[in-house]
Amino acid sequence: MTFIVKPLSINDLTAMKQRGEKITCLTAYDASFGALIDRTGIDMMLVGDSLGMTMQGHTTTLPVTIRDMVYHARCVSRARQRAFVVADLPFMSYPCAATAAANAAKLMQAGGVQMVKLEGARLDIVSFLVQQGIPVCGHLGLLPQHINQLGSYAVQGKEPAAADKILADALSLQQAGAALLVLECVPATLAKAIASQLRIPVIGIGAGIDCDGQVLVLQDMLNISGGKRPRFVKDFMQEAGTVAGAILAYHNAVKQGAFPAAEHSF
Ligand code: KIV
Repeated sequence: MTFIVKPLSINDLTAMKQRGEKITCLTAYDASFGALIDRTGIDMMLVGDSLGMTMQGHTTTLPVTIRDMVYHARCVSRARQRAFVVADLPFMSYPCAATAAANAAKLMQAGGVQMVKLEGARLDIVSFLVQQGIPVCGHLGLLPQHINQLGSYAVQGKEPAAADKILADALSLQQAGAALLVLECVPATLAKAIASQLRIPVIGIGAGIDCDGQVLVLQDMLNISGGKRPRFVKDFMQEAGTVAGAILAYHNAVKQGAFPAAEHSF
């Protein structure tokens, strides 16, 4: 007997938020891990520009091109049966609305993804993409494409004025038409306030337990990234012992509200 798997849509993810079911997401960059992640039941796969580090060996996401992103997006999309697939618009691929739309179209048409993600409160670009029928995921908090302005990968929004700005930007992105939001490395209390005020799902990484879902870089949670593991990452491989077991343990821990714990939060 053949089972047809129904692919998840943005409506399914929004319905999960509404009924309080946590959304699970991992980064994926190729077909074999994409298939494994998808089969394990993870709800979302992010073809992140973190592939600059995990796949290409760079120290930042900045060298990643739209061509690189389309290649990896296509690999993951071929493996996808159920998970909702989002891909990053890489550094300098959205300097203006028209260029953003042309590059987002590449990710959707050649890369086969269902949504594109871009960093910062780029409201004019988000609303233009949405007008063209391109679903958009915002990304606030720590913005890795801004590393040379930030100077370090530190937690964002710790001071009241910075926290207020992130909350205001989140509301503006929703207003501009973003249908998802990634919040990276912000205090858990701020993430909680944002997730409760937004109707769109908020996916956290280093943003505490009260987000509507969680994302981690696959190589980080398998503990194969090398270097010092960030506080917000748990090594799921240690207990599980296999890649499939680690992905399942992560999925279950997020669904049950057991990850992230306080020790993984700011
Ligand atoms: O590129 C990426 O993997 C990301 C996550 C860290 C959210 O944007």
